[in-house]
Amino acid sequence: MSGINILASIWVIITIAGCGQTTRHGQETMTYNLTESEYLSLEGGSLLPLPELTAKVSKDLEEIRSNFPVVRNITHNRKWIPGQVLSTKIRMEQIDQLNSSSYGPLTNVEKIDVKPFFFISVISFNKPYSPPVLCEKLESEFGFPCTPNIVYYEYEVDNISYRMSNSTYIFKKGTGMCKDNCEDRLLWEFLIDNNGTASLVKEWSIPQNGERVIIAKK
Ligand SMILES: *[C@@H]1O[C@H](CO)[C@@H](O)[C@H](O)[C@H]1NC(C)=O
Ligand SMILES: *[C@@H]1O[C@H](CO)[C@@H](O)[C@H](O)[C@H]1NC(C)=O
Ligand SMILES: *[C@@H]1O[C@H](CO)[C@@H](O)[C@H](O)[C@H]1NC(C)=O
Ligand SMILES: *[C@@H]1O[C@H](CO)[C@@H](O)[C@H](O)[C@H]1NC(C)=O
Ligand SMILES: *[C@@H]1O[C@H](CO)[C@@H](O)[C@H](O)[C@H]1NC(C)=O
Ligand SMILES: *[C@@H]1O[C@H](CO)[C@@H](O)[C@H](O)[C@H]1NC(C)=O
Repeated sequence: MSGINILASIWVIITIAGCGQTTRHGQETMTYNLTESEYLSLEGGSLLPLPELTAKVSKDLEEIRSNFPVVRNITHNRKWIPGQVLSTKIRMEQIDQLNSSSYGPLTNVEKIDVKPFFFISVISFNKPYSPPVLCEKLESEFGFPCTPNIVYYEYEVDNISYRMSNSTYIFKKGTGMCKDNCEDRLLWEFLIDNNGTASLVKEWSIPQNGERVIIAKK
């Protein structure tokens, strides 16, 4: 895993573009265009953006945004490319095995040359799987190292995260594109109860020096 991270950093230096976000993989046409609620379902811990879960997330976001105008403009920014994973050590026969498994078929396998080290294989599936959930399954069932194809941002963007296990959402106001005198990050955690009602759990800020300070708690 750490080997992949080192390579990932090298790759970013090679490909970083002026357009705000980048991945190691250039072929955006191969990737899925999901809705905010679909992304959140996946990041919340689901293997696929199941319609029922996506509908719940969409309703929850509407409930939060209509009751808490302060977070209304905060949107989600994707963390990784769905339906795509990277591996530095997948063998030809493992690709064939994967292609004919229940996770397949594969839509593309691209080898990216990161010499003088080695190759990264970018493996694309015909379903918009959550890479961390899929990687955990692939590592244990097929035994090759696997990591998501992360999206990198030039500056700290706004963000929403969902945790399926306790139906909570965190909205984060990022620092934006600033170099000096950046504003602190502001965060809000909301809980959605069984009736679909949103409540504010806590609200806090993280200063630029990284020290976490809770400014309000309920
Ligand atoms: C996703 O959106 C991009 C940009 O709009 C487009 O070029 C691409 O074909 C879309 N991909 C799919 C799978 O629809
Ligand atoms: C959200 O965006 C609208 C339209 O740009 C703006 O009028 C409003 O003040 C913004 N709200 C917050 C809390 O930033
Ligand atoms: C959004 O927040 C989640 C949870 O903190 C984090 O895992 C994810 O990387 C963030 N995404 C972006 C684009 O910052
Ligand atoms: C996956 O299997 C199908 C059917 O056998 C084949 O056409 C396709 O080329 C394979 N894809 C890869 C990436 O090996
Ligand atoms: C939800 O779960 C996360 C992780 O276990 C925890 O940090 C958070 O405080 C929980 N939130 C609530 C409202 O239970
Ligand atoms: C959900 O609604 C029912 C009926 O209105 C009410 O009795 C119950 O207390 C509510 N539960 C929560 C967690 O608010």
